[in-house]
Amino acid sequence: MTTRSLPVIEFVLPAASPAGPRPAAPADARVAEFRPEDQALPRFWVWTLGCQMNRSDSEEMAGRLLAAGCAEAPGMEAADLVVINTCAIREAAEAKVIGRQGALAALKEANPALRVVLTGCAVRERDRAGLRRRFPAVDLFLRPDEEPELVERLGLASAQGAVGLAGAAGSPAPSGVAAPPGVVAAPPRTAATTLVKGVAVSAADHLAGSRADAVASGAVRRESAVAAWLPIIYGCDKTCTYCIVPFSRGPERSRPFDAVLDEARALAAAGYREITLLGQNVNSYGHDLPAEARFAHVAEARRAGRQIDRASRPDLAELIRAIDALRGPDGSPAVPRLRFVTSHPWDLSDRLVDAMAEAPAVCAALHLPVQSGDDEVLHRMGRQYTIAHYEERLGRIREAIPGIAVSTDVIVGFCGETEAQFGATLRLLETIRYEQVFAAAYSPRPGTPAMRLPDDVPAAVKRERLNRLLAVQEEIGFARNRERLGSIASVLVDALERPRGHDHDEEGAEPPAATLAGRDPFAAPLPDGWVRLAGRSRENRLVHLAGPAELVGSIVDVRIEAAGPYSLRGILA
Ligand code: SAH
Ligand code: SF4
Ligand code: F3S
Repeated sequence: MTTRSLPVIEFVLPAASPAGPRPAAPADARVAEFRPEDQALPRFWVWTLGCQMNRSDSEEMAGRLLAAGCAEAPGMEAADLVVINTCAIREAAEAKVIGRQGALAALKEANPALRVVLTGCAVRERDRAGLRRRFPAVDLFLRPDEEPELVERLGLASAQGAVGLAGAAGSPAPSGVAAPPGVVAAPPRTAATTLVKGVAVSAADHLAGSRADAVASGAVRRESAVAAWLPIIYGCDKTCTYCIVPFSRGPERSRPFDAVLDEARALAAAGYREITLLGQNVNSYGHDLPAEARFAHVAEARRAGRQIDRASRPDLAELIRAIDALRGPDGSPAVPRLRFVTSHPWDLSDRLVDAMAEAPAVCAALHLPVQSGDDEVLHRMGRQYTIAHYEERLGRIREAIPGIAVSTDVIVGFCGETEAQFGATLRLLETIRYEQVFAAAYSPRPGTPAMRLPDDVPAAVKRERLNRLLAVQEEIGFARNRERLGSIASVLVDALERPRGHDHDEEGAEPPAATLAGRDPFAAPLPDGWVRLAGRSRENRLVHLAGPAELVGSIVDVRIEAAGPYSLRGILA
């Protein structure tokens, strides 16, 4: 079981000797080779904010650092290298990191060897001066597409190849760093930077190629030993006017079909039971890949402001069917559970719906962000669909996959949103009855097209609408969960506590006074040797249960005995 908790945000300022007893850097570089390498290399700590894409990217960065011979520090205050993987989706996400600059500066004062790297969506090329001003404790900024260069740029790959922060840990960077047994360090790739639609990105195949290297060499340190993230497409070509992601992550770049399948195969061989395919818009997968005869049957033109020809190129439907068809040595399905996030309603194709219905591995859950229940607001948001289109797509999915759990994202208080328009969103929630809604107040993001619209909904009104919406949804989610009382859920036991979920920290945490419907299976003491466990049903519901710790990693049937607004409780059936 390798699940680790997310990095601690609260860290204590160290006393005199911050990093604990550490060997002094050798005065003479020639003696470096006589010192154990792990002591010469920085101990790192990765602080990850934001969505699953960031969590997946952090797995790759941690894996690369481990493969380079670095060790993970037990906490931020004990690290010589802090990597902050930022999110910029709302101002609050960036503010969290800005608010830590003082504490980081104090850590650096106590440990002069400490270096801070800032990467993720807050790093945008056009804004270098602003970055240094807002994040003064940072030594090195890397755009998301530069993350594979982390080890190289820190001078940890080889003494000769040191760029930027050579000797970051106060000692010469060792050459010929040995990877841990069985791990071959991925060859460094340095990207050539190009401008695409005004956004600086590395050469088009850079991320896909470096990911394949990292996977092949074992340089991905996964959060869980049970469920894995698998990135299939980087960037976003959509033009939602409020959104920073296309500016942070650049245009869409799909990983080659066979590279994704290879990673899925490797995950299955390593014992993973569930794979979640990741992309800002997974429905776009493949449109930018070369045409191939084996995909001749994929013929669908996709409109994306321009006409994109899909003919003879793989799509998500093709990909999930191929992963579903993978078989283990005994002929059983190699990947028993398959998910994907996020789907844009606009290009959710019939081919995809059919593949979801026909591929048994695909879980009966879909995250389909709607953002608003009003067409005019959707238009201002640049979402490219109407509520009628959204409902038609959802109807088609619910018809093809009865009982599918649907979740969504909503923004309240977008520019010009009237009370009536907000009311339309509340009504939509009541008609659709989502299992789960991730809602946030609109936060203007510098550089996005919506900056040209007045941010005219007062903060207090945004807050009040958000609270009303959350209250409405809590009722709906609770009712949805009560409908599952007495049913049997197939649960992948993921953790001894609560397993990973969507990108919202508060998910799964029942409010203290929350009502629990049904009979609480935890009211009585647990049998000897049993512990509390948690996992997700195929419908992506968080299920708490009890059993022997060895159940982690198994798929078990659970009878649902109690329901709260955000999770279920059950007993082994
Ligand atoms: N690609 C995904 C979403 C990525 S961002 C999609 O299209 O659904 C996750 C969510 O953050 C979005 O769905 C949206 O609801 C929210 N979000 C994005 N920009 C925002 C902003 N400026 N203010 C508030 N919420 C925002
Ligand atoms: Fe942002 Fe829209 Fe792209 Fe999602 S689809 S990442 S909301 S621009
Ligand atoms: Fe945040 Fe970037 Fe994800 S802005 S939500 S970390 S894609």
